[in-house]
Order: sequence, then C-alpha cells, then structure tokens
Amino acid sequence: MTQRSAENPIRVGVVGVGRGSSFAKGAQFVGMELVALCDTWEEKLRDVGKQLNVTTYTDYDKFLEHDMDAVMLANYFHQHAPFAIKALRAGLHVLSETMACGTVAEGVALARAVEQSGKIYLFAENYPYFAYNQEMRRLYHAGEVGEMQYGEGEYNHPFDSHGFNVLSPGMNHWRNWIPSTYYCSHALAPIMYITDTHPVSVNAVSIPRSNRDTEKLYIRRGDPGAIILCRMNNASVVRIMGLTMRGHSVWYRIHGTRGLMENLRTEDKGALRVMHEPWDVREGEQSERIYTPDFPHHAEEARAAGHSGGDFFTIYHFAEAIRKNETPYFDVYRGLEMAMVAIQGWRSCLANGAPFEIPDLRQESVRKQYEDDNWSPWPEHRGRQQPPPSIEGLNPPSEEAIAYARQVWKEMGYEED
Ligand SMILES: NC(=O)c1ccc[n+]([C@@H]2O[C@H](COP(=O)([O-])OP(=O)(O)OC[C@H]3O[C@@H](n4cnc5c(N)ncnc54)[C@H](O)[C@@H]3O)[C@@H](O)[C@H]2O)c1
Repeated sequence: MTQRSAENPIRVGVVGVGRGSSFAKGAQFVGMELVALCDTWEEKLRDVGKQLNVTTYTDYDKFLEHDMDAVMLANYFHQHAPFAIKALRAGLHVLSETMACGTVAEGVALARAVEQSGKIYLFAENYPYFAYNQEMRRLYHAGEVGEMQYGEGEYNHPFDSHGFNVLSPGMNHWRNWIPSTYYCSHALAPIMYITDTHPVSVNAVSIPRSNRDTEKLYIRRGDPGAIILCRMNNASVVRIMGLTMRGHSVWYRIHGTRGLMENLRTEDKGALRVMHEPWDVREGEQSERIYTPDFPHHAEEARAAGHSGGDFFTIYHFAEAIRKNETPYFDVYRGLEMAMVAIQGWRSCLANGAPFEIPDLRQESVRKQYEDDNWSPWPEHRGRQQPPPSIEGLNPPSEEAIAYARQVWKEMGYEED
C-alpha cells in the first residue's frame, strides 16, 4: 500500500453534501485530498462540486469506482450501514456519520464487514472533542474525580417549524420519523470517551408532544424528547436527555468517587467546574475551580472548524488512523453501542421503561442471536410488527402542517417524488 503523507495525501470522497460539506472542506487540513462528491440531489451537488472544484456523482456505485482510499458518509441518518458495507467491500476506509446502523441486523452485518475488510472504520462523533470534554478525559485519567458512579449527558436542540421543515425535506425524511431515543450519540459519546465505559443495558421513557406547543407546523411524527438511563459496564448509571424540547442544551457531568466535574450551563458554556468535598481535597487541589480549558493540541485548526472544534478532530482522527493503520477510539463497536442504545432504548420506551440489554456485537455468538433482528421504525420498513415513531403511535401530521411544509420545501427548491 502507498504510504500516505504530505506529498501523498489520503484521497477521500464524501457522500451527502449537507453535513458532508464540512468534511469535504476540512479534508485538506488533516492531510486528505478531496477527490469526489456524491449526492442524489443534483442541484445541491452541482453547486458544492463547483465550489470545491471536484468530480461529482449521483450514483453511489459509480462513485465507489473513483480512484480513492477512503469515503466519508453523511447520507441519510439511518442508511449508513449498507453504504459503509459496500465501501469496505470495495477496499475503502470508512468514516460514518451517526447513526452507525438503522437496525440491529444491520449492526451485525456492519461489524462483520469491518472485520472482514481489515480497513479503518471510524464512527464520526464530534462532541467528545470539544475542549472541555477532552479536558474532562484528561482529568478523569489523572484520577481527579475517581471512578464515575453517575454521569449525565444532554443534547437538546429545539427548532421552530420553518427551521425544522428546511432540515427535513420530504414526507419520509428521517427527521420526520426519528424516534426520540435515536439521536443519542451526541449526549452519550462524550461520557464514554471521558470515562472509557460503555453501556450494557438501557431503560428509557419518551416524552409525548403537547397540544400547548405553539410550533405545530412541522410534519414530524416522533416525540420531542426522551430520558434514557444506561447501566454502564462499571455498574455506574448514565442519564441521557434531549432531542428538540425548548431549552437548547449541550451539557455533561460526571459524579465520581472523589469529586464532580461538569461544563457550565450558563454564560461561558465552554468553562469547566471541578469540585471536591472538603475531606477529599488533596494537597495542591482546590475544593472548587472553574476555568476554560483549551484544546490539548491543534488548537488553531480546531478553533477554525465547526461544532466547537469537534469537526476538526473527527476527521483528524480518521486520517491518523489510516496513516498509522490503527483502530480509532470511536471504532465500529463503540459506534454500534450507541446505535444499540438508540434501538433498544426505543424498545424500552414502547414497553414503558422496561430494561433491555445492549447486545455486545464484538462477539459472534451474540451476533448470531441478533442477525435477523430487522425491527425498524423507518418509513420504508413500515408493516406488521414494526414499531411506530412515537409512543402515541403513527401520529399523522395535520393537513395544515403538510401544506406549510410543502410551501417551505418548494421555496428551497426541493422537489417531492
Ligand atoms: N455530527 C454532527 O454534528 C451532525 C450535524 C448534522 C448532521 N449530522 C448527520 O449527517 C447526516 C446527514 O445529515 P444532513 O444534516 O446533511 O441532512 P440530510 O440527512 O437531509 O442530508 C443527507 C444528504 O445525503 C443525500 N443522499 C441521500 N441518499 C443518498 C444516496 N443514496 N446517494 C447519495 N446521496 C444521498 C441527500 O440528498 C442529502 O443531501 C445525518 O446522519 C446526520 O445525523 C451530524
């Protein structure tokens, strides 16, 4: 294999020119060369292709024939696994946006495909790489707060009707069907990264929408939020909260056996608070300190990137994993653990909070038990014994909401099939 270096950058193609544009634009800063783009939305593809001066494809199979080393997948949320498997089989390294797989059976197939390919697979979680989360990982491993007993992670991102419709073009767009537990990785990944723990079981409850909500003109069927409790492999408990309720929140907290750390909820949300009970304070420590940490390395590049620097580190680690031929931290198994929390968490919501195990897809014996688990809330799989997108059922949107959504889509140039 040709060693990739400054003279020989990693040649990469990107699928999906929405979120994927930030990967495409960032590639040059991590020793990658963008060589191809793929999207089925021709107009958007043409614009981004021109802007970045790169070959474009509307057909994924043709795109995979382009001479390149790696692909970055930012196509629809629930369709990454089949795209990743095809790319791995074509001998390409894969970075995949969240979620890693749309069903448990796809997760089994993905784990097997990564192992068979010997290629790098990176699950593209960017939230763990915020400066304060990298600092919490450093403190945790230095023993500052002891071992996690309880953790909290929140990713809650509200939208008004117009904004939500812009992001979700099409009656069957995934954002219009996503159950409230499925977008859990931004809340969970940082906790896993800080503490090196992983979920082994899940209980979840979904929060139904309210008639008093004044923003009704989107056609989303799912619930606005969920509370997910994960039992982690060190017996600690992690609470995950969020989705689209009022009160934007990106927040993480670790209660350990000798202290607590969290980012601030107000004012400087990039600041970190670390505290100890008086009897736990060691020489040189303070009972409480609040400070704003910087990135441990590549600070300048990170500050110029999206998602508080997380976007830089995500593709940096992908490029490094390829160059060094080393499994990245967010490998296929960690990516799948978050997908399992999403799916098993939704089973729990529909069973009013009953516990469900997180299948360990590292083990072939476990995979065998789950390889035909095609349980799916996605519209293309609708049918008997498939779950609804809301705890209230199918939740059909109102005529008024459909008319408004169509008006917004028309204005943005989206043509419905
Ligand atoms: N990590 C983050 O911070 C972050 C932020 C935004 C989005 N995302 C993720 O990025 C992904 C894409 O989200 P988005 O916001 O761009 O919206 P989106 O899902 O609407 O966009 C997906 C893009 O992929 C294209 N596409 C769909 N099917 C295709 C196919 N078969 N072949 C080629 N192209 C295809 C669509 O035309 C569209 O342009 C999702 O997985 C989402 O969760 C992550």
